[in-house]
Amino acid sequence: MDFGRRDHLGAKNGHLTIDGADVVDLARQHGTPLYVIDEGRIRNNYRRFAAAFPDADVYYAVKANGHIAVLRMLAQEGAGADVFSDGELYAALLAGIPPERILFNGNSKTDAELRMACETNVRVSVDSLDELRALARIASEANKEVEIAFRVNPDVSPATHPKIATGLVQSKFGIPHHQVLASYVEALSLEGVRLAGIHCHIGSQILELSPFAEMMTRMMDLVEALKNELKLELDFIDIGSGLGIPYAGTAPTPIDLANTVLPIFNARSRALDIRSKLILEPGRYIVGDAAILLCTVNTVKEAHSTFVGVDAGFNLLLRPTLYESWHEVIVANKLGKTSDHVYTIAGPICESGDILARDRRLPRVEKGDLIAILDAGAYGFAMSSQYNGRPRASEVLVNKGEAEIIRRRESYGDLLTGQNIPPHLL
Ligand code: LLP
Repeated sequence: MDFGRRDHLGAKNGHLTIDGADVVDLARQHGTPLYVIDEGRIRNNYRRFAAAFPDADVYYAVKANGHIAVLRMLAQEGAGADVFSDGELYAALLAGIPPERILFNGNSKTDAELRMACETNVRVSVDSLDELRALARIASEANKEVEIAFRVNPDVSPATHPKIATGLVQSKFGIPHHQVLASYVEALSLEGVRLAGIHCHIGSQILELSPFAEMMTRMMDLVEALKNELKLELDFIDIGSGLGIPYAGTAPTPIDLANTVLPIFNARSRALDIRSKLILEPGRYIVGDAAILLCTVNTVKEAHSTFVGVDAGFNLLLRPTLYESWHEVIVANKLGKTSDHVYTIAGPICESGDILARDRRLPRVEKGDLIAILDAGAYGFAMSSQYNGRPRASEVLVNKGEAEIIRRRESYGDLLTGQNIPPHLL
């Protein structure tokens, strides 16, 4: 079997391997459902991305996969972090990502989160004037000066699922284009904040390059206006991320992205005589293809379609249900067998929408077979839940063919964590 660009996957004795480890053995040893993450793949993805932008800083988007081991390896690689909550900030710092390379993003931060940002000396991407005023007050009270950027809405419409397009004019994210200058003016008048940058993010899983070019141009237009009208020179210009990965078909590479945005960034920076640092915030590209979700077939049923019932559903991989997204499916213990059947892979959750993949051509599937869902490393475990009373899966990390458990399977007790029965019910 040819895995093409997924060269961390392979076949041995009819079994799928990831970084040389036989996934049938892993499933036997650790049970299913099981997430298997390839450390080498994450490191290589990071290096490929960083190499495409040699003069930029790469802030990994923690939301894509916030496992502390993933954050730790990226800290070792020199990554910064885009965090979107106090919990993500906590984990990023714990993993050893330096505070000066962390940007605290978010469209609705609590005062406690703003205080935490001040205390931990990270930079903040401010999403509204309300937030600006709150942050300035909190920072002044703490005798701190926080470096800020404004998250701006560049009004660019990428062709992606509407639920993951964030730069549209009607989006909840960012300061509307026409209010940007006034926001910088107000920030200049406040104590406790120092204007250090500008930030945007137009969406996720974007497979075309033109929206990135449009975004870069609009960002540089704003940078030019800030320089000309407010004499403001920014330390950084953060263009977020959104680079899609080829779940099916093809996708642009980091080099394609660099070839699209860097000529605009460099030419405009030169013309303006500014030396702002470019920052990017990839999540999906770094971890997306580095993990697979293994699940066992509980049942095969001939109905309107032929349903393969597996032990993982949208509780562990929400993307197909939420965005109708497509993930490659492999019968991991039957590699090399002819794909002469058509199946719909259904999860165990009590919802009709709990379908992981529709109408896939696969070898004959039987109860007990092992199904691998590919490219499950980004927004997979990160969006998992315990819905329907299902303990979350365990995770193993494969490094040079050796597997280590990095998250134990949850117990029934974990399902009840934090709950108690009030006295009148005892
Ligand atoms: N920066 C900001 C401010 C973001 O909001 C995001 C993603 C990223 C960076 C990372 O973008 P990426 O490189 O991963 O495209 N759950 C959805 C994706 C939601 C993305 C949210 N923001 C999915 O499973 O497709």
